[in-house]
Amino acid sequence: MKSIVILISGGGSNMAAIVRTAERDGWQGRYGAKVAAVISNKADAKGLAFARQQGIATEVLDHKAFVSRDAFDAALMALIDRFGNPSAPVLLVLAGFMRILTPAFVQHYAGRLLNIHPSLLPAFPGLHTHQRAIEAGCKFAGATVHLVTAELDHGPILAQAVVPVLPGDTADALAARVLTQEHLIYPGAIADLLSKK
Ligand code: GAR
Repeated sequence: MKSIVILISGGGSNMAAIVRTAERDGWQGRYGAKVAAVISNKADAKGLAFARQQGIATEVLDHKAFVSRDAFDAALMALIDRFGNPSAPVLLVLAGFMRILTPAFVQHYAGRLLNIHPSLLPAFPGLHTHQRAIEAGCKFAGATVHLVTAELDHGPILAQAVVPVLPGDTADALAARVLTQEHLIYPGAIADLLSKK
């Protein structure tokens, strides 16, 4: 069985969308894959409660308890890899995981590490994407699912969704519109990847 491990830092709505789609579309039977664990760097991440309710293993690894980024990432790798095995290493899904990852971490999961970013990459990597899109006068915004490489918010694009920016939009209103599309393209991109593995 292939294990999908999902990393979150907050609400976890993308994680919940992935879990619900995996259940609805029978990923276990279809792809021999299941969401094995949800890991957060924040103990109060709201998404953890949902994962627990679904009977999914949850773990918290607080980055503040580590002296360096390298030490945290090394511990995180060890924790994640408990859920896979050499013949079926985990597929690692970043879903609102608000940490910059070390090159060693990215290298370790190369080709099986996915992220969703709330902009139409390569536009607006980094933070505050919705506010920046509004201030730039963009008529369209969106979200991107991509394979993670060493450079922040870069890497081969697997899926994108486009939404209009409407007159008078606030960053929150635009974020909510984009999020509804994230919930469709992220599970879709993962299913696509699983069908090819
Ligand atoms: C999502 O909009 C995701 O694209 C974004 O954080 C939100 C998490 O929401 N990710 C990033 O900004 C990564 N740089 P969720 O916790 O409800 O899935």
